[in-house]
Amino acid sequence: MTPILPPFPHSRLRRMRRTPALRDLAQENRLSVKDLIWPIFITDVAGADVEVPSMPGVFRHTLEGAVRAAEEAASLGIPAICLFPYTDPAVKTEACEEAWNPENITNRVIRAIKSAVPEIAIMTDIALDPYNANGHDGLVRGGEIINDETVDCLVKMAVAQADAGADILGPSDMMDGRIGAMRTALEASGHRNVTILSYAAKYASGFYGPFRDAVGATGALKGDKKTYQMNPANSDEAIRLVARDLAEGADMVMVKPGMPYLDICRRVKDQFGVPTYAYQVSGEYAMAMAAVQNGWLDHDQVMMESLMSFRRAGCDGVLTYFAPKAAKLLAGR
Ligand code: PBG
Repeated sequence: MTPILPPFPHSRLRRMRRTPALRDLAQENRLSVKDLIWPIFITDVAGADVEVPSMPGVFRHTLEGAVRAAEEAASLGIPAICLFPYTDPAVKTEACEEAWNPENITNRVIRAIKSAVPEIAIMTDIALDPYNANGHDGLVRGGEIINDETVDCLVKMAVAQADAGADILGPSDMMDGRIGAMRTALEASGHRNVTILSYAAKYASGFYGPFRDAVGATGALKGDKKTYQMNPANSDEAIRLVARDLAEGADMVMVKPGMPYLDICRRVKDQFGVPTYAYQVSGEYAMAMAAVQNGWLDHDQVMMESLMSFRRAGCDGVLTYFAPKAAKLLAGR
């Protein structure tokens, strides 16, 4: 629907761009600190609180460092943080038992943050890759990713995280049937108010490279994730996945990566009208930071423009490694 404009000179679209006040009045979308979810890396092995080489300004945190990050997030007004573990290779197995160990690094950090910073929402990642000897999100047998047995593992992982106090579970594994299985298990285990933010439309992307370095999965991963993550050429399939995950009990849905898939964000929001998030992933952050470090792009301008693009595409919020920097800028700090 194109609005009908009177012809020039009656219509001069530059009139509303003339001053900051007029531009404010004409602004269609706004970005708030309340739209941000901050992903952080956690670990209990040596190498904690060191910078991730391919993600300047992003650190792997110890348990204490993660609590400090949660405190910082809360003081900045960021509503949620999301935890990603870097696991000791010694505890990674083909059966991935560490994933549902109540004492694993994720569950210990959840409990520590819950008691220190109760006001912040804690989101987690549900997938086997941090605990899997072969780096895949699911169990591997005979060279194949086994769907249904993986779902059994993911359900145990979800209940363990809910027991520890997680507010938002983020299944990023792309197995079929996992949302319904988790929802059923959460209801049965007294966690009926735990929310699920499904990574519904997650693509097999080249933009996850720096993340796999950060969680130590790069060397471990054998092959690629194309039998479970989506083909970047597809769009209708994203709509089917979102419909399916909502029907199985997801409260919110995610599109991932973010910037190359803004068309998917818009389609999902228009079609379903549900809480919709994008993940501005590690490679998007790394790409911007590399150009900034070369003096080729302006950090603050590119950060804010990219975050605003998610709001314009219909997203209610965005997972971004820029979260604390954007929050400070929004607060004028
Ligand atoms: C794995 C997972 C990945 C990311 C979040 N969860 C990587 C992958 O699928 O290989 C990527 C996030 C990022 O790149 O920032 N379950």
